[in-house]
Amino acid sequence: MRTGLLGGSFNPPHLGHLAMARAAKEALGLDEVLLVPAARPPHKPLAADMASPHDRLTMARAAAASVPGLGVLGVELERLGPSYTIDTLRLLQAQRPGDEFFFIIGGDTVGELPTWREVAALLREARFVAVTRPGFDVAAGLAVVTKALGATVAERITVVTMPPVPISSTEVRRRAREGLPWEELVPHGVADVIRAERLYGRSFVTTFATVRALRDHVGQRIELRGWLYKQRGKGKIAFVHLRDGTGIVQCVVNKEQVGEATYDRLKGLGQEAALKVRGNVRQDERAPGGFEIDVDDLEVVAPTASEYPIAHQGDQGVDTLLAKRHLWLRSSKQHAVLRVRNEVIKIIRDFFYEKGFILVDAPIFTPSACEGTTNLFEVKYFDEFAYLTQSGQLYMEAAAMAHGKVYCFGPTFRAERSKTRRHLTEFWMIEPEMAYAGLDDVMDLAEEFVETVVQKALERCKEELKVLERDTTALQRVKRPFPRITYDEAAAILKQKGLPFEYGNDLGSPDETAISENYDRPVMIHRWPQEVKAFYARRDPQNDKLALAVDVIAPEGVGEIIGGGERATDLAFLEQQIEHHKLPKEAFEWYLDLRRFGSVPHGGFGLGLERTVAWICGREHVREAIPFPRTIYRKDP
Ligand code: 4AD
Ligand code: MG
Repeated sequence: MRTGLLGGSFNPPHLGHLAMARAAKEALGLDEVLLVPAARPPHKPLAADMASPHDRLTMARAAAASVPGLGVLGVELERLGPSYTIDTLRLLQAQRPGDEFFFIIGGDTVGELPTWREVAALLREARFVAVTRPGFDVAAGLAVVTKALGATVAERITVVTMPPVPISSTEVRRRAREGLPWEELVPHGVADVIRAERLYGRSFVTTFATVRALRDHVGQRIELRGWLYKQRGKGKIAFVHLRDGTGIVQCVVNKEQVGEATYDRLKGLGQEAALKVRGNVRQDERAPGGFEIDVDDLEVVAPTASEYPIAHQGDQGVDTLLAKRHLWLRSSKQHAVLRVRNEVIKIIRDFFYEKGFILVDAPIFTPSACEGTTNLFEVKYFDEFAYLTQSGQLYMEAAAMAHGKVYCFGPTFRAERSKTRRHLTEFWMIEPEMAYAGLDDVMDLAEEFVETVVQKALERCKEELKVLERDTTALQRVKRPFPRITYDEAAAILKQKGLPFEYGNDLGSPDETAISENYDRPVMIHRWPQEVKAFYARRDPQNDKLALAVDVIAPEGVGEIIGGGERATDLAFLEQQIEHHKLPKEAFEWYLDLRRFGSVPHGGFGLGLERTVAWICGREHVREAIPFPRTIYRKDP
């Protein structure tokens, strides 16, 4: 096959394009010519009146349909994204080996130097047809190519002379804009699209935009694609809150503008129907978010099957909402929480990357317990059993001896029977581990880490925290240094406050709250009774009853967000601990190897992602901080 490729913005395609295609086809005996609408029109800034990619594609298809042997290659707009001819050529060469491709350069682009530079780059692989038109200097362009590549490659360019067709896309748009006749300049099908989509008319621009980016489009006509959040009507005007995934904007729909049929269809739509709206962006201080859309065109993509089960200001209980979590995700507060989670994850990854920590993923199937045997999930593993990981720590200890500073970030599992607002059975944990580090190093890292996460989240999630109505005063104070107190000091505070706390026990949630009330920022409690902490904790050389462990307690009643500490390095001690905790020794042989070969002081911690996100977002319960929570009561949807 000999295939001609005619690239361009096609905004819109016109009779000149068709004449050019025909001229090239006849002169070279091409089997077909494909119109290739460009994602970014080559070497041109995006014109203010550039039709949307979708509309340009539709127009190109309509134009091609009017001439036999003419087709459309939509790949740049549909798949490649911003791209150059070279990508398209590569794709075609891969799909159609053996075919010969000819680039047709014509019309106004013939005179453009950048186009010729691109031609020069492509010349080794394809052939070109330069279609001359009066007023455009092909010779100058050829001179550029010859200068760059030598005279011989210029032979790959065929110059075809075409009878003058004084039409350009700019001219079509100018006429449409000024109310002059333009239909005769374009194929019928193209004219139909221009009329149906109201392109190039009074308000002719259709740039695709998002609610979040509206400030970049004030005064422009744009298209938004989303879902109906809510609507209220007042006679001939409807106020539609459109949700597009990036935000919510109020759209003003005027019956006279959109026509009665469309208006009535809109009025019949339920919450969460899928919609596209087009219209002008107006800045309005009174509008929520600061912008409004004056809609002149509206398209229903999908109505709803029945009434939406989640009401905006409904009195639905959290159980009903959790059962519909797949839909609840769309509600604005839940949407904001997951956006914060996304930012927090990015901040965490950047923090460790910038500090030179290596991300090492820990396994999820594990042969043994890390944090005690009482809350292990056992799963069938072929003919044996395995456990879902409670913590990647033991693996990070191995990795730290290989890399120095490492972390893992993945899901962890606890068969917690707790019904508290802080417990999930599946949660995400970030666990850094450092070789040649002691408890103080661990605490230094923990406080810098928590400060960075909170302060950057405050900076980057302003919109979300506003939606969540989060008073951020307490969060602003999360700055180093955090107070560091011992378990003994914590116990004294509890005693002094008259709480029913028994020395030697783990801290309960009310205990943590009572302690944190004494401080204006997170507090680190270190040196715990060793029975409270896991088998791997190093004993305090000053006091054998204490473990060199630390918990970071967040304020505002949030409680423990971090647990960690220094690890035992001594082989004999660990063997004894494994026995004492009744752990299966064989399953820990690999772990003990770490003490047999170059055992050094080391330590790290684990931060619970959901507790952290719930804290930053001011959510009472961790289950809102994970997309699909798993608790003792729930494993679906
Ligand atoms: O205190 P934990 O159990 O510590 C460890 O697992 C250590 N191996 C970590 C390490 O040193 N590498 O858990 C650490 C953190 C807690 O502070 C809490 O934030 C979170 O993980 N977490 C939970 N989050 C939600 N639901 C649960 N059931 C959680 N259990 C712990
Ligand atoms: Mg803990």
